[in-house]
Amino acid sequence: MTHKHKMHEWTEERSKRFIKSVENKIEKRYVPFAKEIYNFMKQFHINEDSRILDIGCGPGFLLFELQNLTPDIEIVGVDSSELMIETASKKAKEKKIRKFEFKKGDAENLPIVDNSFGVITCFNSLHDFRDIQRSIEESFRVLRKTGILVLQDRSGTYPKWKFISVVFRIGLRNAWRYFKTRHSWLDPKVVEKWMIEAGFQILILKKKEHYIIVGKK
Ligand SMILES: C[S@@+](CC[C@H](N)C(=O)[O-])C[C@H]1O[C@@H](n2cnc3c(N)ncnc32)[C@H](O)[C@@H]1O
Repeated sequence: MTHKHKMHEWTEERSKRFIKSVENKIEKRYVPFAKEIYNFMKQFHINEDSRILDIGCGPGFLLFELQNLTPDIEIVGVDSSELMIETASKKAKEKKIRKFEFKKGDAENLPIVDNSFGVITCFNSLHDFRDIQRSIEESFRVLRKTGILVLQDRSGTYPKWKFISVVFRIGLRNAWRYFKTRHSWLDPKVVEKWMIEAGFQILILKKKEHYIIVGKK
């Protein structure tokens, strides 16, 4: 059965607000996850000259950090928001990144050929997709046989009272916006199940406020 997900629209205004809220938080928000992906690449013997795809890439900040760690890698981002793609492309040019591509497209129907990526990431975006199960099937299709998928997202099973720490971290106003999307946060066990149904083998499952799942074909 396909899980149909209630769309929480990414309007231009929301995209602008998102970019503004994260652009000063590169060190805190993106660098640690980029390092974690880099470590998974080493652990699972992914070549540093392969290609990496970020699904729901937003303004590209995660990919830029990964590119810092692995300068020979080619970075590719897909996002359904025109503004995100324009912003990411502009920033990549400013940073003089040699091998990059940002494409407008849907996670449910990736504008990417089969078996073409050594690493696929999805950071804090899965809960936003219209049809999450379909997006997992799509990531399976475009992943190489020797590649890995690294997913990170908010966990719906994390004890709600612990989110009080979120208020302290990001302030009441931002925390309210954060909580408004809570209906779409998933149980990582469900994501794991959908990955297995799509054909993935699960390599790692870490359950915390933000879960991380690593899978291979
Ligand atoms: C919370 S933001 C995260 C962006 C980026 N991963 C980051 O952490 O900076 C979620 C992103 O998912 C994108 N998005 C939402 N639905 C999508 C879909 N069906 N296909 C592709 N991207 C989508 C939005 O445009 C937005 O950029």
